Formats: sequence, structure tokens, C-alpha cells
Amino acid sequence: MDDPLLILDGLHKSFGGVAAVRGVSTTLARGEIRGLIGPNGSGKTTLLNLVGGQTRPDRGWVVLAGRSLEGQPPDAIAARGVARTFQLPRVFRHMTVLENLLVVVCADHRRAGWVEARRDAEALLRLVHLDGLAHAEARTLSGGQAMLLQLARCLAQRPLVLCLLDEPFAGVHPGIKERMVQAIHETNRAHGVTFLVVSHEMPTLRRLAGRVSVMHNGAWIADGPLDAVARDPRVIEAYLGRPGPGHGPEEGRAPGRAADGHSGQPRDPA
Ligand SMILES: Nc1ncnc2c1ncn2[C@@H]1O[C@H](COP(=O)(O)OP(=O)(O)OP(=O)(O)O)[C@@H](O)[C@H]1O
Ligand SMILES: [Mg+2]
Repeated sequence: MDDPLLILDGLHKSFGGVAAVRGVSTTLARGEIRGLIGPNGSGKTTLLNLVGGQTRPDRGWVVLAGRSLEGQPPDAIAARGVARTFQLPRVFRHMTVLENLLVVVCADHRRAGWVEARRDAEALLRLVHLDGLAHAEARTLSGGQAMLLQLARCLAQRPLVLCLLDEPFAGVHPGIKERMVQAIHETNRAHGVTFLVVSHEMPTLRRLAGRVSVMHNGAWIADGPLDAVARDPRVIEAYLGRPGPGHGPEEGRAPGRAADGHSGQPRDPA
């Protein structure tokens, strides 16, 4: 791959006796949307944390646009253009939806003044169809709407070269999921932003990601087009604990989701 945006080289992270990420090496192309799947506890969130700087690796390197991120704190990594969302939405609950975006937009000093900041924030709200709730306090949003706001905050960051999305669709109503997919596609198309999307939602990943990677017990066990990955006996075994045809992550939702208490059933109004 020529001049990849992101290189992970031998990344390793243990917590006590648990090797959460074990020697992961891969690359992401500029402008790629990559899916990341794997059973619960396979190390997906830890991998995102290693890229975003929330966790330091024990060994290995993360290289973004040709420069190492070694030793850099999350704010410095964000300033290099890495934005992310979290499995549980992180928003300022007592600020309005618009204010939540203005905090991000105003943090970028290159956006000249208040008028321009507000215009950018409102454009982002329209992109995710939250403009009707601009003046609602974030604490009044449904879980899915809060996820959508979290995505909008992520997309508001400047510079923006890489978005790390941790299960953005989990438990989200299909109508909201659709807005997320469109906003991701639009941002990818219009600005060439690269995405790494952790999800258990195979139909949604099929629409978004040209390639999907699979983690199991901290290791990177497969990657390729979703259909090929879902037929890979190592992937089927990772999900089922035994090899067998026709029972991989492709069978509806990946089985990994059910074990952590999130049913994944839609629960939010569109
Ligand atoms: N801060 C931590 N301290 C101790 N152990 C941790 C910590 N973070 C993660 N782990 C462990 O590392 C392993 C990988 O966890 P991680 O959250 O990265 O998995 P995941 O693939 O994101 O799972 P899920 O699908 O449930 O979100 C698990 O065994 C988890 O218990
Ligand atoms: Mg996780």
C-alpha cells in the first residue's frame, strides 16, 4: 500500500496478566473506511485507545501520516487530526446540543470568529439532522441521539484526518443509524477523512467499509472484504469457539454483542 495514513507496528498492551492487544500490525490507507469486528473482550477498544493516546503501548508504534505518535498525549494526537467517539456517548449533558458542538468548533482557533463558528456548528447539526434539537439540553436526548451528537462532535474536530468510532451503532434506532451512515459517507467523500469503525453490525459495516479486520484475544486474525472475512474459518472459530461453516459474524448480528448486556435492539425514536 502506498503511503498509508496509519501504520500500526507490533502494538502490544497488557493489563496485569491480560494481553488485551497482542502484536497488532496493519495499515490504513488514506480515505479508507475500515471496519473492525471481534467478540467481546477481543481488544478493539484497547486498540482504539492505543491510537488515540488514551492508553500507552507496552511495545510497538503508531505512525500517522509518516510521523510517530510515540509518547504523545491524547490532546497532541487530536491536534494531529485524530478524533474519536466512545462506546458510551460522552457529551456535556447540561449544555445544549448546539453548545456541545460550539465547544469543539471554538477550540479550533483558525476558525475566525463567533459567526463562523456558529455557522460551522449549525452545518454539522444539519449534517446529522439534529438541527431541530439545537437548543435542547444534551441530557434530554435519547441514547441514540446522544450517540449522534457524539459523532457530530467527532466530525467537528479540525484538522480531521482519522475518525475512530467505537460501536457508534450499538442499540441505535435504524433511522438514527441511517443518519450516521450518511454523515460518515459524506465526510469521507467530501474531505477524504479515514475511518476505523468498531461495530458488531454486519449489514451496516457492509454499506460502509470496503475492508473489515477481525480481532480475537488481542490478535489481528483476519482482514479483507466482509464477505470473505465472514467465511474465514478462523473468524468463525473466534465467534463460536469451534470451526464450522455458516455461523460466522455474517449470521445477522455478530454474537459478540449479546454477552455484554447490550441487546442491540433498536430503542430510540428516529
Ligand atoms: N483498563 C483496563 N484494565 C484491565 N483490563 C482491561 C482494561 N481495558 C481492557 N481490559 C481487558 O482487555 C481485554 C480487551 O478489552 P477491550 O475493552 O479492548 O475489548 P473489546 O473488544 O472492546 O470488547 P467489547 O466488544 O466488549 O467492547 C478484556 O479482557 C478487558 O477486560
Ligand atoms: Mg469495546
